[in-house]
Amino acid sequence: MKIFIGSDHAGFRLKNELIKSLQQNNGLHTADITNCGCFSEDSCDYPDIARETCLKVLDFGDDALGVLVCGTGAGMSIAANKIRGIRATATENTYTARMTRLHNNANVLCIGARVVGVGLAEDILKAFLSTQFEGGRHSARVAKLEGADA
Ligand code: RB5
Repeated sequence: MKIFIGSDHAGFRLKNELIKSLQQNNGLHTADITNCGCFSEDSCDYPDIARETCLKVLDFGDDALGVLVCGTGAGMSIAANKIRGIRATATENTYTARMTRLHNNANVLCIGARVVGVGLAEDILKAFLSTQFEGGRHSARVAKLEGADA
């Protein structure tokens, strides 16, 4: 699995915690994770980071997932979902994190650093990464998201 992770300044600290957690608790190696910025707490624009991260996810292919952290998760998800092929979900709970992989085949998770603490964010991320798309009846629905007939 390959993870592309990005944040704006508001999500910078939580993103760093999540990167550490991915390495220590989820067994991911440095090569499995690409930090797409930002690289400091200087103010920056979340649409730029969302775009950069999502294009890398799409370019890598099916084995890649994206994680975007901003203040609320909302701006990142709005920006990410403008990009064709991206199915981004902002969530503050583990149930939605799991279900959006199972049913929506979400390929990007958005988290709000001003909304959830580190522990919950780690659990949300874990739920997202450890769940696979269920396929079946959901395949046709996901295809409709892309404007395609199934
Ligand atoms: C930055 O202040 C904040 O607006 C941004 O991180 C995000 O929450 C937008 O949705």
